Amino acid sequence: MCGIIGIVGKGDVAQRLVDGLRRLEYRGYDSAGIATLDNGKIERLRAEGKLINLDERLKKAPVRGPIGIGHTRWATHGGPTERNAHPHATERVAVVHNGIIENYAALKAELEQHQCRFETETDTEVVAHLVDHHLKQGMDPITAANAAFDRLEGAYALAVIFANENNLMVGVRQGTPLAVGYGDGEMYVASDSYALAPLTKKICFLEDGDRIRVNAGGVTIYNRDGKELSRPIRITAQSGETTGKGEYRHFMLKEIFEQPSVIGDTLNSFINPATREITLPADLVEMVAKASRLTLVACGTAFYACHVAKYWFEQIARIPVEIDVASEFRYREAPMPEGGVALFVSQSGETLDTLEALRYCKRQGQKIVSIVNTIESTIERESDMVLHTLAGPEIGVASTKAFTTQLTTLACLVLAAAAKKGAIDAKTVGAMSDSLRQLPSLVNSVLQDTAVTIEKLSREIAEARDVLYLGRGAMYPIALEGALKLKEISYIHAEGYAAGEMKHGPIALIDDKVPVVVLAPHDKLFEKTASNVQETIARGGQVLLFTDRDGLTQLGRGCRWSVRMPVSDAFVAPILYVIPVQLLAYHVAVAKGTDVDQPRNLAKSVTVE
Ligand code: F6R
Repeated sequence: MCGIIGIVGKGDVAQRLVDGLRRLEYRGYDSAGIATLDNGKIERLRAEGKLINLDERLKKAPVRGPIGIGHTRWATHGGPTERNAHPHATERVAVVHNGIIENYAALKAELEQHQCRFETETDTEVVAHLVDHHLKQGMDPITAANAAFDRLEGAYALAVIFANENNLMVGVRQGTPLAVGYGDGEMYVASDSYALAPLTKKICFLEDGDRIRVNAGGVTIYNRDGKELSRPIRITAQSGETTGKGEYRHFMLKEIFEQPSVIGDTLNSFINPATREITLPADLVEMVAKASRLTLVACGTAFYACHVAKYWFEQIARIPVEIDVASEFRYREAPMPEGGVALFVSQSGETLDTLEALRYCKRQGQKIVSIVNTIESTIERESDMVLHTLAGPEIGVASTKAFTTQLTTLACLVLAAAAKKGAIDAKTVGAMSDSLRQLPSLVNSVLQDTAVTIEKLSREIAEARDVLYLGRGAMYPIALEGALKLKEISYIHAEGYAAGEMKHGPIALIDDKVPVVVLAPHDKLFEKTASNVQETIARGGQVLLFTDRDGLTQLGRGCRWSVRMPVSDAFVAPILYVIPVQLLAYHVAVAKGTDVDQPRNLAKSVTVE
């Protein structure tokens, strides 16, 4: 899962390719590269590491040419070295690729029989050699590229340029996204419309199986059989502006502190402030309220949002819910109820596992609802109905404000479905809607009241090798999310457990070197969690307790550290308790000196399986 961009344009395109790659860096940042045609000759510039390295090289040694392709990489096959960086090229052809060529080993063996010499460990290099092989056989560039595409298995979006062809780019979309942008006397291709936003608002999103030949005057879209296709051109609402860090040291910290406002924006789009009524589309609410079962599928942090929502849907709306991570769900061959509703949650709207799970549910006759943050994403376009989280662009790789706005959106949906079903009375609906509307100010007070304490204690937690997170009920997924946040940005091993599961195994891990983070609002499950905390303390465990006033009175004394949370309605507590665990992960990572916004091995949008 990488980002690709191409320009068939006017003047030198190299710097604009790099600028476009900057907007695609969320898809991977192991290495980056561009290729242009300088007087018909393929010129490549590649650099290991972040895009800034490529940019610096370009400034020192500009490459010229009116046509070019660019790539930002998240390594799949072959380490993140300059040699493995895209574009991959021969003397006659250069290729950028997002996806995985599954049959690359067989193709490579075949090409080696034809004296092709491979220089990299990547799967993509076979595409360059395959096209080159067909060119050597005497095919024209378009025929050669199509013959090569016919042989590929897996998921791929490709853009290909050819030596001495200043006005031709060929591409294909199969399983990973590709968009075409229309400029004024120039044309563009890219993995998403966001990359193209400063260049054009006129975008056409390709469908799986689409192939393209692009020149400066336009694009021809056709299928494998050469039949020409027409795809709608949309005027995208993507803003060309880039987001800055403002006064904050990292995007992640800025995004944590944006939560009161983006939760407020999301709530305002779903709740009428005057009537306190939830204003979600009536047909959506009716469909969810009537469903015999809901299937909620997502990945990573977005999955934990589904996990919290399962507690809400079942307890409040009395609707049975099945949840699964998309990578498992899509191959599970789950039987699905007739007239069922499947709900997909995704910040990027491009996560391949989630998208494939969605397609499976579609084939099973389910109604498809998605909750996405990125407008015009593939998941949105393939859904029957969509709800937008209004988190705004999330740049930090570790999801924070996307998660809390996903929870906010799900909470509104739960409440609306519960009201429609009559599972709760009007007075309760009003009270719960009030709790939701208090969230921006409650989240703000958590941020203001806990940040300094958490920063201080994080220096001690940063010394740990392992950290456990415990919670019960809807705090269990928050414990999972806390552990995920810590491991992805601080590289400390962390696990989340349902507090009641400790005695079934994990308690063996407890000693005085393992901090145990406990999320325990003083709710109906508090006493049970308190017993688990005592069991931990009795074994020397160093407990960091997040709880409210009454919880502190009862349990604070035996804990190594404690942080006071505001008293809140149990319904909204998960949205509050995730804030301090985000802050904890952030400050631990800062104390350890890791790259908070772009942690190693990760990417913001995961478009491979
Ligand atoms: C973790 C994180 C990931 C994403 C997951 C799904 O901080 O950000 O776990 O939540 O990759 O991504 P989306 O929501 O884009 O489908």
